[in-house]
Amino acid sequence: MTQPIPSPLQKLHGKVAIVTGAASGIGAVTARHFADHGALAVVIADVQDAKGREVAASIGSHRCTYVHCDVTDKDQVKSLVEFTVKHYGSLDVMYSNAGIPSASAQTVLELDLSGYDRVMEVNARGMAACVKHAARAMLEKGVKGSIVCTASFLADCGSESVTDYTMSKHAVLGLVRSASLQLAPLGVRVNCVSPSFVGTPMVAETFKIGAEELKEMMAAVYIGRDGPLMEKHVADAVVFLASEDSAFVTGHNLVVDGGLGIKSLSLLKP
Ligand SMILES: NC(=O)c1ccc[n+]([C@@H]2O[C@H](COP(=O)([O-])OP(=O)(O)OC[C@H]3O[C@@H](n4cnc5c(N)ncnc54)[C@H](O)[C@@H]3O)[C@@H](O)[C@H]2O)c1
Repeated sequence: MTQPIPSPLQKLHGKVAIVTGAASGIGAVTARHFADHGALAVVIADVQDAKGREVAASIGSHRCTYVHCDVTDKDQVKSLVEFTVKHYGSLDVMYSNAGIPSASAQTVLELDLSGYDRVMEVNARGMAACVKHAARAMLEKGVKGSIVCTASFLADCGSESVTDYTMSKHAVLGLVRSASLQLAPLGVRVNCVSPSFVGTPMVAETFKIGAEELKEMMAAVYIGRDGPLMEKHVADAVVFLASEDSAFVTGHNLVVDGGLGIKSLSLLKP
C-alpha cells in the first residue's frame, strides 16, 4: 500500500486524462498514479472489460471510469475522446499506451506478415489514432495538453528476435517526433516513454513463461541494481511528461531502463 501524495506535491491536480491499455501492467499502474497525483478524472480504455472495470473500481468511481475501446477501431477511439470531453469538460492528458507483443520470436527471414499486420495495427496505427483524436479535442477546446505514448527501448535500436514489434515501436517514435513538431506551435506537447523490460503479462506472453520464471528473468536482467524496473518507475516518468514539470519538453523519447541501453561495445576494461 503506497502513501497518499500530499496535495502540494500532486502534479496533475484537476486534469482530465485518458489512459489506453489500462486494464493491465504499466497502464493500470499509471492510471492509479494519475489519480494519486490529483487528476480530476481518469478514463481508462482497454479491450479487457472485466479487468478494466476492476481497475476503475479500485481507483474509485468518483474519479475513474472504464470505457471499452479497441484502439485499432478509429471510431471507438473518436468516441472515447468524445465521451471524455462530454463528461469531464475537456481532455488535458492522453497516455496512449495500449500495445501487444510479437506473436512469436522471428528474424526477418521468418517474418509472418499477418502477425506483422496485427502488431502494426495495434502498436502503430492504434497509437496514431489516439494521438490524432486527442490532439484534435485539445485544440478544439484550446487546451495546452500533453500527449504521451509508450514506445520501447526497442524503438531506437535493432532486435535479434522480434522484428515486427521493433518496427512498430520505431513507428511510435516517428509519430511522436512528427506530431510534436506539428503541434508545438499550437501548444500541445507530444512525448514518449521507452521502458526496458517490466515484468508485466506482456513479457510473460512474449517469453511464454509463468510468474516464477518471470521473476527470475527480471532479477537476472537487472542484476547489480536495487531491483528490477517496475511499472511505478515508468508511471513516474509518464507523470513528469504529462505535467507542467515538463512544460518545455516536446518530441522527447524518455528512456526508462536503469542504464541498460547505454552500454558501449567496449573490449578494453579500464
Ligand atoms: N512490459 C515491458 O517490458 C514493456 C517494455 C517496453 C514497452 N512496453 C509497452 O508498454 C505498453 C504496455 O504494455 P504492458 O507491458 O503493460 O503490457 P500488458 O499486456 O500488461 O498491457 C497492455 C494492455 O493493452 C491492452 N490492449 C491490447 N490491445 C489493445 C487494443 N487493440 N485496444 C485497447 N487496448 C489494448 C491489453 O488488453 C492490456 O490491458 C505496450 O505498448 C508495450 O508495448 C512494455
